[in-house]
Formats: sequence, C-alpha cells, structure tokens
Amino acid sequence: MTKDNILVQVEEIYKIFKGTVDTVALDKVSCDINKGELVAIYGPSGSGKTTLLKCIGNIWKPTTGRIFFKNKMVHKFNDEESSQFRIHDIGFIFQEFNLIPSLNVYENIELPLHLAKVKEKNVKKERISGLLEELGIKRYIKSSPKELSGGEQQRVAIAVALANDPSLILADEPTANLDTENRKIVLSHLKDLTKQGKSVFIATHDTEIMNYADTIFNIDKGVLEINN
Ligand SMILES: Nc1ncnc2c1ncn2[C@@H]1O[C@H](COP(=O)(O)OP(=O)(O)OP(=O)(O)O)[C@@H](O)[C@H]1O
Ligand SMILES: [Mg+2]
Repeated sequence: MTKDNILVQVEEIYKIFKGTVDTVALDKVSCDINKGELVAIYGPSGSGKTTLLKCIGNIWKPTTGRIFFKNKMVHKFNDEESSQFRIHDIGFIFQEFNLIPSLNVYENIELPLHLAKVKEKNVKKERISGLLEELGIKRYIKSSPKELSGGEQQRVAIAVALANDPSLILADEPTANLDTENRKIVLSHLKDLTKQGKSVFIATHDTEIMNYADTIFNIDKGVLEINN
C-alpha cells in the first residue's frame, strides 16, 4: 500500500480521562485507514472503541499524539476547520443515534445538508428519499424519531451520517439494534460505499461484520493490535 492510499493515519495517540479515577482510554494507539477499506474494531465494553472513533472524527482531541486525514493534522484543526471537517469529510454514526426529537426524519437528515449549504429543495429531497429507500425506511419520512423502533432510528442515524457523501464513515455499533435482514442491508450498503473509494471504520461486537471487513483491529484496555 502506498502513502497515497492512506486516508487516516493515527500516530501514538493517548486519551486520558481525569476523574475520580484516571482512565487511560487509548494507550499509544497507532493505525492507518486506507481509502476504499472497511475496517472493523472489536474489543470488550470500555476498551476504547468509541473514544478512538471520536478522536478520529475530531469530536474529542487526543491527550497526546497525532492524527492525519488526507495528510492534514486533524488534532491541530481550529474551530472552523473542525466544523468543516465534520460537515464535509466524515459521517459519524453515533452509538446512541443523536437524533433530534423535535425534528421529523426528513428534517433530521436535512440538517447536515443545511450545514453543508445545500439549498436546492429538489436536490435535498432526492438525496433524502434515496437514502431512506436504500435503508428500507422511506415510509417513515415524516415520522418523529420517537415513533420509530430502535432499529429504525439506527437506520435514520445512518442516513444522517451519509447525507453529505463523506469520504470517511465512522460507525459506532451500527448494527446493534438490527435484525438479520436489516443488518445485511446496512452492511451491504456500507460495503458498497467502500467500492466507491470511501472508507468505513466500524466499532462493533458483531462477529458477522468480520465477513465484510478488509482489516480487523482488536482493542483491549486502550491497547490496539492488528488482527491478521
Ligand atoms: N467522557 C468520559 N469521561 C470519563 N471517562 C470516559 C469518558 N468516555 C469514556 N470514558 C472511559 O474510557 C474508557 C473507554 O470507553 P469507550 O466508551 O471508548 O469504550 P467502548 O469500547 O466504546 O465500550 P462499549 O463497547 O461499552 O461502547 C472507559 O473506561 C470509559 O469509562
Ligand atoms: Mg462504545
């Protein structure tokens, strides 16, 4: 693999939470994410999966260490660069969905498009309908998130993350609430995105995802290893 194929480089990051007890959530973690690759990261609860995704997505800063995205230093982004990065370059599928309860499904997915300054109504409508169709939840386009099951909300959260066609999708347990059929739909969709050159990084406990992954990482107590 040449350097040109690398989308994300994580170099020796530590994330230390200071509190009642200090927690070393990431302990000298280094890894690469290549373009067009689906990477799965496995580890027990509390091992640091979400923390790593949030550091790569620039939602949290690592305590020390360096993160590069397309050779730019993510950990040094200022507020404006951080928000542009989050709006245009990455799609984050949150473990706890993070849908806005006062907005309906359409409006939740419209929000990232609004932040990206997509103004044309037709473009927005086509994009949102297309995503909902592919994820099998188009009939809920006008529903409120609270009217949906956990698995349906999970798929809306996936549509929100994909709305701006990001080159990196960071997915935190995206299949946790899905039945077999919908899990297949979601994983096939994420795998198809890698065929378009996008990269997908999935934190998971779901062993089925191993069948879709090009690379597998294991993490335990903040220490990451590549599983070959
Ligand atoms: N905001 C926070 N403040 C303090 N400690 C935190 C915070 N977030 C996570 N931690 C700690 O960091 C460690 C890693 O947590 P993290 O959420 O990354 O684990 P995880 O692998 O995603 O677990 P799960 O499989 O349960 O989602 C845990 O020990 C957790 O208690
Ligand atoms: Mg987690």
